[in-house]
Amino acid sequence: MAKRIGVGIVGAGFVAKFHIRSWVGVRDADIVAIASRRKEKAEEAARLARALDVGEARAYDDVAAMVRDPQVDAVWICAPNDVRIEVMEAIADAGKGKLAGVACEKPLARNVREANRMVELSKGFLTGYLENQVFMPALARGKEILWRRGAALAGRPYLARCAEEHGGPHEPWFWSGRRQGGGVLNDMMCHSLEAARHLLTTPGTRDLAPASVTSETATLKWSRPAYAKRLKERTGGAVDFAAHPVEDFARASVTWTTPENLPVVTEATTSWSFVGPGLRLSFEAMGPEYSMQGNNLEGELKVFFSREIRGAEGEDIVEKQTAEQGLMPVVADEEGAYGYTAENRHMVRRFLEGKEPDETFEDGLRVTQLLMTCYMAAERGQRLAFPPEGLDAFVPAVAK
Ligand SMILES: NC(=O)c1ccc[n+]([C@@H]2O[C@H](COP(=O)([O-])OP(=O)(O)OC[C@H]3O[C@@H](n4cnc5c(N)ncnc54)[C@H](OP(=O)(O)O)[C@@H]3O)[C@@H](O)[C@H]2O)c1
Repeated sequence: MAKRIGVGIVGAGFVAKFHIRSWVGVRDADIVAIASRRKEKAEEAARLARALDVGEARAYDDVAAMVRDPQVDAVWICAPNDVRIEVMEAIADAGKGKLAGVACEKPLARNVREANRMVELSKGFLTGYLENQVFMPALARGKEILWRRGAALAGRPYLARCAEEHGGPHEPWFWSGRRQGGGVLNDMMCHSLEAARHLLTTPGTRDLAPASVTSETATLKWSRPAYAKRLKERTGGAVDFAAHPVEDFARASVTWTTPENLPVVTEATTSWSFVGPGLRLSFEAMGPEYSMQGNNLEGELKVFFSREIRGAEGEDIVEKQTAEQGLMPVVADEEGAYGYTAENRHMVRRFLEGKEPDETFEDGLRVTQLLMTCYMAAERGQRLAFPPEGLDAFVPAVAK
């Protein structure tokens, strides 16, 4: 077994920097390269990696050249959703027989056809699906206690509710249905569906099968004229939400069957129209005699600023921060609390051991199949048996 691996990251934006900062808690791997569309963005992220002492990262503006770098043994895909296939094609071409593994950020793709192509292109590599929320220490610890003390005595849990909510994404491409693949349902419900499935799944297995799906979407806030105008101004005209809206709210309920043929249910809610101090991740699960709840904004630290303190706007207290005054919750270690650190340790370990991670591209494909079924169910106003006919070719109306 190799003792250490060199990781190359594709993309140098928001989430690439989360991964780089998380690396201070990752063993047995260094960030040795970063490739981005613009070399200067790759240089900036590489400087962050070097400053944090998590690797002597070199900057590239060509994905294939980065993959061919002799120091690169594994690749993390952190580029936008609309370049997934071209990025994966470059990795597959340049990395065959060389890479220990490829990990990809959520969602695996914009629709099922693209997700199938990602799986096809990844043949011959170990794959990791970067769904950070299943690695959140609070969720992982809650699941471990619930199953060990509760499920072992009273039977498996039957209901999980997960939600991810904030006030709207940071880059214009997220708001474009065509580029991103949809609205908030595609962008964020991928997290909540998978986190909820994980809570109800027997540890160490994949023993739930989706049976039926119901979902509802709405555009609650950003299509209001004042907010569509504000979004257009904020993005320098790049987002014309009045002309091309996508959903900023979605909820879904999935019924699953267990090997014992018991029904269990996951509920997911997600929104870009949430009003609160910043990103809110909440999760609950319950079984016959037990339950758990978690919420990242109810953590161990709060700060207070009186009306005399009118500091600059920033994102230095919590992700997707919306205020700087009053009583503010602080997530002291966001990379740890949101699961990036544990996720990256896990992926590195499995790639070093030559074993499949607990979340693979196949899991990412299943999540995409569920997301597309949610869009179908919402568009038709029906509960759909899974998998519905026509799923492989389906593209949500908002992504056309
Ligand atoms: N796990 C999570 O909670 C989470 C959070 C946020 C995002 N994500 C996911 O992570 C991915 C990236 O999101 P982000 O927020 O980091 O986006 P972002 O801030 O827009 O950054 C994207 C980066 O990718 C680069 N890029 C664009 N096209 C490229 C190409 N063809 N080859 C190489 N690099 C390219 C961009 O360069 P330019 O700036 O030069 O275009 C930029 O550096 C998305 O799939 C998103 O869904 C996950």
